[in-house]
Amino acid sequence: MKILNILEIIEKKRDKKELSTEEINFFIEEYTKGNIADYQASALIMAIYLNGMTEKETSDMTMAMAKSGEVLELSDLSENIVDKHSTGGVGDKVSLILLPLVASLGVIVAKMSGRGLGFTGGTVDKLESIPGYRTNIGIDEFKENVRKIGISMISQTANLAPADKKLYALRDSINCVESMPLIVSSIMSKKIASGAQKIVIEVTVGNGAFMKSEEDAKKLAEEMIKIGKMVNREVVCILTKMDEPLGFAVGNNLEVIEAVKFLKGDMPEDLKQVVLELGSNMIKLAGLGNDLEKNKEMMLENISNGKGYAKFIEMVKTQGGDISYIENLDKFPKSKFIVPILSKNSGYITNLPAKEIGEMACFLGAGRISKDDKIDNSVGIVLTKKVGDFVKNNEVIAYIHSNDTEKAKKVEKDFYEICEIGNSR
Ligand code: URA
Repeated sequence: MKILNILEIIEKKRDKKELSTEEINFFIEEYTKGNIADYQASALIMAIYLNGMTEKETSDMTMAMAKSGEVLELSDLSENIVDKHSTGGVGDKVSLILLPLVASLGVIVAKMSGRGLGFTGGTVDKLESIPGYRTNIGIDEFKENVRKIGISMISQTANLAPADKKLYALRDSINCVESMPLIVSSIMSKKIASGAQKIVIEVTVGNGAFMKSEEDAKKLAEEMIKIGKMVNREVVCILTKMDEPLGFAVGNNLEVIEAVKFLKGDMPEDLKQVVLELGSNMIKLAGLGNDLEKNKEMMLENISNGKGYAKFIEMVKTQGGDISYIENLDKFPKSKFIVPILSKNSGYITNLPAKEIGEMACFLGAGRISKDDKIDNSVGIVLTKKVGDFVKNNEVIAYIHSNDTEKAKKVEKDFYEICEIGNSR
């Protein structure tokens, strides 16, 4: 048996040679255990960043990272567990709406989500803004909830793909996040570890997304589909725009409120299109309908008849959440100051950049700059206009929800700088 050695692995990748399955397994296992130093892992990651990986290497990396911790077995719940993933965005409350909605149509939903970091929010933080909602339950209770009501949404367990957690932090610290094989293996490893057999992935593209160009987003989608095939997972990717925030609200309980209103029939058009696109594909993958247009109709039907909303209430209740907040949205705590931003001229809104608005919400306290920061559930930004809308002089464009007047003032000033108004759409 050949004794493996990290220096030889670095040398091979540095010299543009293909790593074997054993070498990739060795690197992932030993790095996760702490037997390979960060400086050596950094050298390898930089070599991968510069020289890329073959498809075989990427699929090996995916499986090695998936197996670096606990791999959930969900086949006892259903043969057709369909997971959903998004590469992230601003105002992204899609999971809160989509998953109860498809669950109300019979799709079995066993979903683990992440927390937000930086300007992108996380579904778990949003769920936790519902008083009492427990995102941290054990796997047995998680499965029991899925068995009982067909849906559970919780936070990723600490032992889910730990190699990815470590490597992601390392990539971030050495500016090597934006490597296609590393992004693909990072996303796919977490989906595989959380028990998904079929996966609908929303690849966001634009100013507030990881992928800034459609070309890169398409490439990422193609890679994930290819690697999915190699590791026996059916993957469907949907490209969606992330140039302005999705819907109107950015901030934790502000987004929960918008999600609940959506489930009761008040659907912002951009959010509606994303929910229908992803949901119709989830229903198809779950084997509950091959016709995507019909699936969209079924989803809209379950909005009109209240079944999607009822499933959301059932899920919140089962997870320990206080449903009186959902039934009476006014109960959610409000920020001390709600400051309108008034337009200084009239015209069409031509730019409301998602990234900058996400950063403003984060600055107000809705997000984390570093992993251990506390978040404030009541703050954020609620737009009243979208790109393409006409705005009159002195009309409200957005509301700042803040618990700090100085922060609100700064956000108001910055908002005028990033919001562009022109003479035509
Ligand atoms: N999202 C992930 O989960 N991992 C990446 O590497 C990039 C985006």
